[in-house]
Amino acid sequence: MMSFTDHLRRKIQEQGPIPFSEYMEEVVRHYYSTERNPIGIEGDFYTAPDLDPIFGQLLAKQFDQWAKEFDSFTLVELGAGKGLLARDILQQRRFPYMLLERSPGMRRRQAELLKEYDVTWIDELPDGITGCIFSSEFFDALPVRRVVRRGQVLKEIYVTKNFEEIEGDLQEPIDAPLADGQIADINLQARKWVRRIGESLDAGYHLAIDYGYMGDEYYAQPRGTLMCYWRHQAVEDPYIRIGEQDMTAHVNFSDLIQEGTAASLDTARFTTQMDYLIGLGILDEMEKLAIAGDAVSLQRLVKLKKLILPGSMGQRFKVLIQVKRRGGTGP
Ligand SMILES: C[S@@+](CC[C@H](N)C(=O)[O-])C[C@H]1O[C@@H](n2cnc3c(N)ncnc32)[C@H](O)[C@@H]1O
Repeated sequence: MMSFTDHLRRKIQEQGPIPFSEYMEEVVRHYYSTERNPIGIEGDFYTAPDLDPIFGQLLAKQFDQWAKEFDSFTLVELGAGKGLLARDILQQRRFPYMLLERSPGMRRRQAELLKEYDVTWIDELPDGITGCIFSSEFFDALPVRRVVRRGQVLKEIYVTKNFEEIEGDLQEPIDAPLADGQIADINLQARKWVRRIGESLDAGYHLAIDYGYMGDEYYAQPRGTLMCYWRHQAVEDPYIRIGEQDMTAHVNFSDLIQEGTAASLDTARFTTQMDYLIGLGILDEMEKLAIAGDAVSLQRLVKLKKLILPGSMGQRFKVLIQVKRRGGTGP
């Protein structure tokens, strides 16, 4: 059988060099479709839901507060990974729950974990949602356009059949405040998702938790933010272990905020994961674990610290909350 790399090489041979975004789309789609589980100790990276159920329990608390504003409150999770977050939320309260997940392998894992819960899988965001559309590390998995400034013009990076980069014309107009020679990863799909979320919500919230920057810091990175992960190591080269290592880029939250404003999503809050989880009461949980003092509690305490410590996930991860008011005037 032809390997994924050979299949991709043949495609590029037939089509000619493809934009980096198309390369990333193919590679990430393949990566999430393999049998090997990408998330957690046996995989390539950890996410907050993987660290400890407290993450989902605190989000459930948030959803509980928001649900009081509405007659009905549906949750829609984008890119649900192993389904741990869904499980930890639904253990707290049985919200109507939809999962939008593209990978068949991930869907299988979710179905197995969530078999005792009443959840539905969807392929597209439906219209008329009252509730919250939310995600943990969804936007960073979307393909990015890699661009570089050469004098007055922006060039797009393409991938050749030998998996080398060349520069060519932009696929579509893009504007980015870059210095000469500077590279940036522009996530046009993230913008489209935010627009679609705005349309899908009749009233309610969009909550995105991910690592990223506001635009000024985003465009201060000289070589963009693209990074690969393999067995818990950061790898800079996206052309090795093709389809076997994760590939991601930081989220430009200014884009999400700006696009949201155009889609009737007002920014209610933008903060660090540390601030957000402290606001939801993580320190009380940590105190209980410290008082309990047994080995299991102390191990959990270490994981809870990882969620909030600035040098760990606390500051790198951000929380964006956008609100869509009914008829444009208020939930
Ligand atoms: C980095 S993982 C995050 C998983 C989980 N939310 C967590 O925090 O553990 C990204 C997830 O998004 C899914 N995904 C990526 N692109 C997608 C798309 N375009 N539509 C739906 N799901 C997608 C992947 O299959 C995977 O489940």
